Amino acid sequence: MKAAFLRSVLRRGGGASASLIPRRRFSSEAAPARKVAILGAAGGIGQPLSLLLKLNPLVSSLALYDIAGTPGVAADVSHVNTRSEVKGYASEDYLGKALEGSDLVIIPAGIPRKPGMTRDDLFKINAGIVKSLCEGIAMYCPNALVNIISNPVNSTVPIAAEVFNSKGVYDEKKLFGVTTLDVVRAKTFYAGKANLKVADVNVPVVGGHAGITILPLFSQATPKANLGDEKIEALTKRTQEGGTEVVEAKAGKGSATLSMAYAGAIFADSCLKGLNGVEDVVECSFVQSSVTELPFFASKVRLGKKGVEEVLGLGPLSDYEQRRLEALKPELKASIEKGVAFVRNN
Ligand code: NAD
Ligand code: LMR
Repeated sequence: MKAAFLRSVLRRGGGASASLIPRRRFSSEAAPARKVAILGAAGGIGQPLSLLLKLNPLVSSLALYDIAGTPGVAADVSHVNTRSEVKGYASEDYLGKALEGSDLVIIPAGIPRKPGMTRDDLFKINAGIVKSLCEGIAMYCPNALVNIISNPVNSTVPIAAEVFNSKGVYDEKKLFGVTTLDVVRAKTFYAGKANLKVADVNVPVVGGHAGITILPLFSQATPKANLGDEKIEALTKRTQEGGTEVVEAKAGKGSATLSMAYAGAIFADSCLKGLNGVEDVVECSFVQSSVTELPFFASKVRLGKKGVEEVLGLGPLSDYEQRRLEALKPELKASIEKGVAFVRNN
């Protein structure tokens, strides 16, 4: 029952690959021991994400870290009768303990948007949070894969890279900005518009994770549907504004948490599958890249035992997508440079 539930959750996957279900599966006993640390575990994303990771049989040890509220969340999640042992860590004094031995660190720590704000408005506070947490990772688990959820992702990923660089531990294969929610949204919206079964749908989303930098490639969506230009433009806009749609609906009570936890759990699961040697695991993610002239860019990425195994190209773009690609570059470039400058100047 438990395994069937998890399989059904993961089968709906957020990835761009047609085969999200690995050819080789592990029973919870046979899977290698894997420690996952969640930093910001008591937050709106952190709590459901902790639960979803607790349901994942690939996880043997779950470290829940936050500056507030961790003991309650850890006690609660720890009662779920699945494989992993759960420990809560409730202050900066315990960051090292939380991180030690981690194979994967997921960072949803930081403030969310309120209506009227852009993701870049979060930079002032979240840049410092991500910087200090990455300093901890550099010290206590420099070999871990790092999944960054905290916004603005277009800047927080370069911040993490710069921190790791400055500490001499940067491995570009291990650093990921989580853009899976964009893929999840693009799939849902496309399936709805094209009247397709959403579980069958795949849509790559490239670029970055803010407004026009989010570029869903509906010309590559499968199954193919003959939607006209107007519908494709509306779908593109809705995907780009998906986060704002939730922020406005929550009316001051934060941004996407449940769908983000789902997306984060899908992406973490794919990272763990890659680490465990499962073949053909492909997800879209914001990573160091040479796909365009920008140093970081989201595209399909093949995951493997060391993290990024291969950054895949963009594939053929429609004229509309080609234009949107050129239009997003200046904003994405500026956000990347802002992140790099923040670390160099602090
Ligand atoms: P939240 O305010 O509900 O939770 C954030 C948590 O981070 C809180 O529990 C807080 O105590 C904790 N925190 C703050 N500083 C910390 C630190 N130094 N160390 C450890 N924990 C710390 O916010 P949320 O709704 O969970 O959103 C978190 C972040 O995720 C936001 O920046 C939001 O914009 C971002 N987000 C990203 C995506 C994406 O697609 N990448 C999607 C949704 C939200
Ligand atoms: C999202 O896409 O939902 C997140 O980036 C949160 C936000 O601020 O929109």
